[in-house]
Amino acid sequence: MDDFYRENILDHYRHPRHKGHLEDPDIHYHDVNPFCGDEITIELKVKDGRIVGVAFDGSGCAISQASASMLTEEIVGMTLDEIRKLDKDYVTELLGIPIGPVRLKCALLPLKVLKAGVWGLEEWPE
Ligand code: FES
Repeated sequence: MDDFYRENILDHYRHPRHKGHLEDPDIHYHDVNPFCGDEITIELKVKDGRIVGVAFDGSGCAISQASASMLTEEIVGMTLDEIRKLDKDYVTELLGIPIGPVRLKCALLPLKVLKAGVWGLEEWPE
């Protein structure tokens, strides 16, 4: 079963969904993983408190970029309150494989950027 998830991660890394930029985004946030310098930018369009458009850009390892791609597939249609409640477990379930402590920072970078953009909360998700 792990193979399926590993393939899925590689597929998102090689063919990222929603990669690019939005015209005139309502929310735009960029941050780096201080441990390696890899980076993610997330842009959102918001209407009536709900995400109606998303794009990301970045460079980094397969886990960080795949995690960003997977998140962008999930969050369109969510409310900002729902985004604020997303946590570490949500991301690890999306990735579907056991993640060690070092790679966890990679996996959580996109969620950190997303939450910082939505909430101004700049902590690593618990
Ligand atoms: Fe930098 Fe993964 S090694 S985010």
